[in-house]
Amino acid sequence: MSVHSNTKRVTTQTLQEMKMKGEKIAMLTSYDYSMARIVDDAGVDVILVGDSASNVMAGHETTLPITLDQMIYHAASVVRAVNRALVVVDLPFGAYQGNSKEALTSSIRIMKESGAHAVKMEGGAEIRESIERILSAGIPVMGHLGLTPQSIYKFGTYTVRAKEEAEAERLLSDAAVLNDIGCFGIVLEKIPAKLAAKVTSGVDVPTIGIGAGADVDGQVLVVHDMIGLTREFSPRFLRRYLHLYEDIKAAVGQYVTDVRSADFPNEKEQY
Ligand code: KIV
Repeated sequence: MSVHSNTKRVTTQTLQEMKMKGEKIAMLTSYDYSMARIVDDAGVDVILVGDSASNVMAGHETTLPITLDQMIYHAASVVRAVNRALVVVDLPFGAYQGNSKEALTSSIRIMKESGAHAVKMEGGAEIRESIERILSAGIPVMGHLGLTPQSIYKFGTYTVRAKEEAEAERLLSDAAVLNDIGCFGIVLEKIPAKLAAKVTSGVDVPTIGIGAGADVDGQVLVVHDMIGLTREFSPRFLRRYLHLYEDIKAAVGQYVTDVRSADFPNEKEQY
């Protein structure tokens, strides 16, 4: 329970209950205090401090460059804003692939230094030992299967994953592993809707889709994409609720005009 309010916090158990009751889970990314406040206040259940911060906050082409220290900085800013949502933080590339001890050390740093509630990791059976070690320390872990952007140089493209039977079978078996070892949820990114539905009915824990159709337990989007702060990224699965790039550009353009014409500040806007 938050020390700041009487709001009932979302926990991993809440998400499990939501799946059992058939209530859909709303998840969205945030990387800073101001945005996280709005996202939490609007009723989002899970806030993901995604390593997509590498793209939308820092302007990198991939998620690979972002560091553990940078993720902790973003996560701590988000945690300070949140009263209700469960805050999940991505373990960044290079912070867990080495061995399970490194994975645990990185997760402990995230939990201790940011105050977040859980971590997320990309991968299936190949990272089983690391996930188990993190779970044994009492840290909740969310899995992530399908398109795993930290492996972009292995796959070469950001196209839909697991369209072929062999890859689909591997994904189903990875989902079963994550479920059985105790992950509290699984993100399914950019896979066929039918496969996502099959994963969802085959596991006990909630699945959260991004480009994985409607038959999953919840949805996640990158907040900068859904409010239109980014323009270039326009995959089929993205629904834009605002067009803030254009709106902010128009507002800033008006400010420039007002300053140059000495319209701003006027008499009421000074002391
Ligand atoms: O980093 C991120 O934003 C993510 C979501 C796309 C699921 O992992």
